[in-house]
Amino acid sequence: MSSPATTGPASASTGATAETNGAAGTAGAGTARVLAGKPVAEAVLADVAKRTEALRARGVNPSLATILVGDDDASAGYIRIKQRQAAELGFDSPHVHLPADADQDDLHRAIARFNDDPAVHAMLIQYPVPAHLDYDAALLTVDPDKDVDGMHPLNLGRMSVGLPGPLPCTPAGIEALLAYYEIPVAGHEVVILGRGATIGRPLAMLLAQKRPTANAAVTVVHTGVPDWKRYTRRADIVVAAVGVPGILGPEDVRPGAVVIGAGVRYEGRKLLPDVVEEVATVASAMTPRVGGVGPTTVAMLFRNAVAAAERAAG
Ligand SMILES: NC(=O)c1ccc[n+]([C@@H]2O[C@H](COP(=O)([O-])OP(=O)(O)OC[C@H]3O[C@@H](n4cnc5c(N)ncnc54)[C@H](OP(=O)(O)O)[C@@H]3O)[C@@H](O)[C@H]2O)c1
Repeated sequence: MSSPATTGPASASTGATAETNGAAGTAGAGTARVLAGKPVAEAVLADVAKRTEALRARGVNPSLATILVGDDDASAGYIRIKQRQAAELGFDSPHVHLPADADQDDLHRAIARFNDDPAVHAMLIQYPVPAHLDYDAALLTVDPDKDVDGMHPLNLGRMSVGLPGPLPCTPAGIEALLAYYEIPVAGHEVVILGRGATIGRPLAMLLAQKRPTANAAVTVVHTGVPDWKRYTRRADIVVAAVGVPGILGPEDVRPGAVVIGAGVRYEGRKLLPDVVEEVATVASAMTPRVGGVGPTTVAMLFRNAVAAAERAAG
């Protein structure tokens, strides 16, 4: 298993860190159409707000619980962002803050409390947890129906066979972003650089599914494919999901291709994306350096949460 999409610095924090890095709203130096995540997220969240209101009218208060272990300022900040968003949407957001020296049993007890509470519909454990704790082991104890990140193995299995359940947030956000901007995906070739558990692998599964917003010919490349550029250069859509700054340059994409930059590395608060800005001089459309898949990832978190509440309410 890997880090969840929604709890690490690459997602909810993107908003917070992004602005400090500037460049929001531009895809780079070139002419590519800018595939900003914000309007996509706003559309998704408007739908979530409506569904939340409908549930509340039925006497069901959608609830997203959060668990924070330790006193890391950045993690506490990410929790605050999610709680603020939850409040704006009309969600309840019960929270447990465990001390930095909490042990694995303490964490599992906090999870069990939310598992057993019928008023809690979804939960997230803020990632990363302190090094002495095992995040993946904790995730396995989360009730899969309340797994808001969609990263529990049962949910990845549900996705693979098309059963309803929470979807991994960053991949689902990428599909939503492509659909929002009416980028043709069905019948086209999508090359995903990176086969990580958070993005590459689940995204490949999603975009290959038989659905109007997917239905693509998907190719996944990684370190086992040394000539991966051969594949990205022929793709209609390239998704970079690696975490190696600058790995995808303008020479690696076909003129007119659509490029989605999902992979990032942080050096302190500095965000280093996989995609070189000059790719915008070749691509027809591209996510901005900042504010691309980050906002859509967070929106998907709330979409998963409201769907969990709807399922629980019957
Ligand atoms: N924007 C967001 O909202 C968001 C959310 C979540 C994650 N992320 C970011 O997305 C990135 C991917 O995360 P992940 O967890 O899915 O993946 P991951 O587990 O970090 O794996 C990275 C993948 O990239 C491949 N790779 C690494 N170096 C490569 C190279 N030189 N050439 C070709 N392939 C290479 C690896 O290949 P092998 O499998 O062969 O090792 C692996 O498949 C990370 O940067 C993460 O921070 C962003």
